[in-house]
Amino acid sequence: MRKYQNPSLQRFNTFGLDESAREVWVLQDEEDVVEFATDEAAVSNLKLILGGGSNLLLTGPIDGLVVNIALRGHQVIEENDDYVIVEVQAGENWHQTVLWTLQEGYGGLENLSLIPGQVGTAPVQNIGAYGVELKDHFVSLDGIELGSGAKKTYTLQDCQFGYRDSIFKHELKGKFIITDVRFKLSKKNHTIRTEYGAIQAELEKRGISSPSIKEVSDAVIAIRQSKLPDPQEIGNSGSFFKNPVVAISEYERIHAEYPEVVAYPAGEGRMKLAAGWLIEEAGWKGFRRGDAGVHERQALVLVNYGEARGQEVYKLALDIIEDIDKRFGVKLTPEVNIL
Ligand code: EPU
Repeated sequence: MRKYQNPSLQRFNTFGLDESAREVWVLQDEEDVVEFATDEAAVSNLKLILGGGSNLLLTGPIDGLVVNIALRGHQVIEENDDYVIVEVQAGENWHQTVLWTLQEGYGGLENLSLIPGQVGTAPVQNIGAYGVELKDHFVSLDGIELGSGAKKTYTLQDCQFGYRDSIFKHELKGKFIITDVRFKLSKKNHTIRTEYGAIQAELEKRGISSPSIKEVSDAVIAIRQSKLPDPQEIGNSGSFFKNPVVAISEYERIHAEYPEVVAYPAGEGRMKLAAGWLIEEAGWKGFRRGDAGVHERQALVLVNYGEARGQEVYKLALDIIEDIDKRFGVKLTPEVNIL
């Protein structure tokens, strides 16, 4: 275990915000996790469990302990002619893991290419993109309960996955450290999912009619690179807000006034509105105040052009929420974790 006193968290968050923490412990293996989990003083001081810092807005210094999850490794733990089950340690980079599975010829995670972050935080918000969510290939995960240090396994049902949601954001928030995650991936007869419009169009542009998993991944990477800023260049946390899910009656009220509103059926008489559309329609796309801004190509993404403080990004988010509520009567909620 490595320990740091008063470090800057700048390289630990993709917004690139220069806030410090009183202490950071870097947990490199399961023993480190158990050592932390059973240290009563450390657990009561815990302010943040940090993976890749890709879903985080720091609005000030952290007056306490941050644990950074750095467990590495991956392996195939079960295999037959049709599928494999892979087990990946929580500190592995998500995109590198996807590339590894594709290289091995395992299908399933290709639509989730280029999502920032780590494997252990992916289940927390059930990451999703282009018609696929993590839960679609998830088998189970292991972790350590804070306090007791007991090892526990959570199955697909146990995790209570929803849209950008899981039990780890609710009952188990701050109470459990995920150490490894298992995925079931296909070796043959894999169903490729290209029904999401942007993928179809990208493949057509490339003249590909029956794509391989690698070709789907390449298309997803190209789409993401064309819309979403690279955190290495412009600090950001991907989508800042969730796409709001509203009752059909609400959708109809908005649709009557704004016939172009973009929305998708979300089951049980509900519709999911494209928050990016609402924010763009309200005139915020490309807006900049100091170094905090709304991305020019995707209005759902807030950015730090360099020297923004977390407070400035947060203020911008609050102004957008207020404006969208006033104009459309819809309450946006942040997708990122605000600290
Ligand atoms: N739109 C606009 N203006 C914008 C952005 C979007 O009008 O500035 C409209 C367009 O009509 C577009 C539609 O909204 O067709 C949907 O936009 P897009 O396909 O870019 O997806 P999204 O709803 O903005 C969601 C996820 C992304 C994920 C994409 C692709 C959320 C909060 N975001 O974004 O996830 O990559 O779909 O599946 O669900 C993330 O969570 O960080 C993230 C990037």
